[in-house]
Amino acid sequence: MTEAPEAVNIAPGVWRIRIGTPEKEISYSRLADRAPRIKELEAYPRQEFPFAPGDIRYTIGADHSIGIRIPAPPHEDIFGFGLQLDGIKKKNRVMDLRVDHWGNGKGQTHAPVPFYLSSRGYGIYINTARPLKVYSQVGNRKDAPFIPTPVDRNPPPDEKPAHGWDAQPIGDAVEIQTYAQGVEIIVFAGETLQDIVAKYNLFNGGGALPPLWGLGFWHRVPAQFTAEETEKEVAQFHDKNIPLDVIGLEPGWMTKSYPCTFEWQPKRFPNPARFTENMLNQGIHINLWENPYISPEAKLYSSMLPLSGTHTVWLGIVPDYTLPESRKIITDQHKKAHLDIGVSGYKTDEVDGFDQWLWPDHAQFPSGLGGSVMRQIYGLTLQKTYQQDLFRKNNTRSYGQIRSSNGGASGYSNTIYSDAYSHGQFINGISSASLCGVLWCPEIRSAANSQEWLCRMQTAIFSPLAQLNAWADGTKPWSYPEVENQIRELIELRMRLLPYLYTAFSEYNRKGIPPFRAMLLEAGFKSQEKIVAGKLDARDNPYATSQIVERNDQYMMGPDIMVAPFYEKQSQRRTVYLPAGTWYDFYTGKAWQGNTSITVDNDGKVPLFVKEGAVIPMLAHPVANAREALNAPLEIRYYGRTDGSAELYEDDGTSFDYEQGQFKIRRFTVTNKEGQAPILEEKVIKADGPSLFGTVKQFSTMSQEK
Ligand code: GAL
Repeated sequence: MTEAPEAVNIAPGVWRIRIGTPEKEISYSRLADRAPRIKELEAYPRQEFPFAPGDIRYTIGADHSIGIRIPAPPHEDIFGFGLQLDGIKKKNRVMDLRVDHWGNGKGQTHAPVPFYLSSRGYGIYINTARPLKVYSQVGNRKDAPFIPTPVDRNPPPDEKPAHGWDAQPIGDAVEIQTYAQGVEIIVFAGETLQDIVAKYNLFNGGGALPPLWGLGFWHRVPAQFTAEETEKEVAQFHDKNIPLDVIGLEPGWMTKSYPCTFEWQPKRFPNPARFTENMLNQGIHINLWENPYISPEAKLYSSMLPLSGTHTVWLGIVPDYTLPESRKIITDQHKKAHLDIGVSGYKTDEVDGFDQWLWPDHAQFPSGLGGSVMRQIYGLTLQKTYQQDLFRKNNTRSYGQIRSSNGGASGYSNTIYSDAYSHGQFINGISSASLCGVLWCPEIRSAANSQEWLCRMQTAIFSPLAQLNAWADGTKPWSYPEVENQIRELIELRMRLLPYLYTAFSEYNRKGIPPFRAMLLEAGFKSQEKIVAGKLDARDNPYATSQIVERNDQYMMGPDIMVAPFYEKQSQRRTVYLPAGTWYDFYTGKAWQGNTSITVDNDGKVPLFVKEGAVIPMLAHPVANAREALNAPLEIRYYGRTDGSAELYEDDGTSFDYEQGQFKIRRFTVTNKEGQAPILEEKVIKADGPSLFGTVKQFSTMSQEK
């Protein structure tokens, strides 16, 4: 590697490195167009640049190839590189960071965000929309400082058989290759890994703040449901006393789907305005499925035709949404046909692959972009189009879903979902997403039995978007009568936690702290990984390679609650690692001393553990939907023995007025003196916005004797 680039400090602990001419390229953050939160970044203390001068190197080849080498000695651990459902640790791995449907696990995924964290306390963001090939600590350079002695795998009979064969040593760098005219690298340093992730999110404008209703319960109906069938199903939620905030309509709401028209199918929805009005009157929001590929039968087909790429997807044309003209055409149509009659958001499908379902890399788009960059940014561009040109312009917040995203997307109010369905991977996704500024939806669709149904529902409920996606199976929360009551209580608990969850999302927005996050970002957590030694097997393991088995099956929700779902082989009983400190059972207040693993048995409730001194603002009673949460009385729960406090964030719950300072913060402080009952005090510390939740009705001290 020949050149050492200059690093320019742009905020405390944030540096920009330029290689070649990055201005000539598309960068995720520039495209996402969310101004960095400089004021919040500047509130952090100064940091030393985490590398020695000249440590980061690059080469530019005559063929426009760029090679970047960033030191990462073997004792450092590397995490991230986007939403990777198979784990978060990326040591000794080769990855192809390309948008794809989740499947092969080699870096290709719904959100291959080129951002990684090092256990040494820094983060690296390769801010380019080019696909990247990453060699993370792969040690095969002939000038490497540590090269293990080669071992004879096939010794003659009189020699001892080899031990400790190490043909793929851990390398001492992250090496990245791409073809581009330039690349921008942003380096983040901070006191904790959580600070570094927060800085990445603040650099990208801060995290998303969904409307309050987005944090309630979502149910997607079967693909061909009519207005009448949907209304009937909603009535059943009411009869069964199961909370419901959002109904998701799947493809059949349109005149034609795959490719799409975005126009209501009159045979199923004869009066869409009346349908949405009727739903909104019951406090229920409508989310519409679509994919962005336009049918020749769509009214906007002819105007979009010249603004679309050379190839089709699902036989529909592929608009180039980097162009303002196409953004205007789609958002004008969506405003008139959907937003103006009360539609609240979208599920944007099929923007991820597989290869043969998307346009090819050699496709051309009218903006001059080629297929491969377009594939990296398509989900991002659509998010920008809807969130900025449609919802923000109309001062209405939305919360939706998208099947691909990428760097720079922290502020976009969407969750990523997948057709994949491994429960273990779905839990891992919550942690993985938190390391790269995206939100993950581990939706429930079906289950083999009531036990699995309950376990999957618990994960779905304790996630950024609590959704049952019944598009194919027609399942309902009450599909397994044996566990219907437990499911109801579970959804009710989510609803009661709305004040706590909404505040956690506001901290994502204002401070960059992910509302659901990997344990890696928590102080006192020790990795629970195991190394399983490889056994020679001609079919499954011909090189006898050993394997790192990670456990990312517990995660934080908001500042104080740790979630440890039951799943797969751990569906009856599982171990939970409690980080250092005292932890309390959410339901009973039973205490444990942390820095240890405990075993928990499945008693029908999802294990939730609360930090020492936690103050949890929640609703005193369950509500049928977020609308009923307005002015609803609060219960403040207090866990522990040390003094504690919590903030409660409030705004109007639906508009962007909070960005003009129209929000309110109430602080609850608990003082707990030896021999006296704990005392709760409430203070409004910022009073510029409307009230959202009601007054405190109940103060509960949860801690049992240790
Ligand atoms: C799939 C999507 C499903 C469902 C289905 C409808 O691509 O992942 O969640 O929406 O399309 O056809």
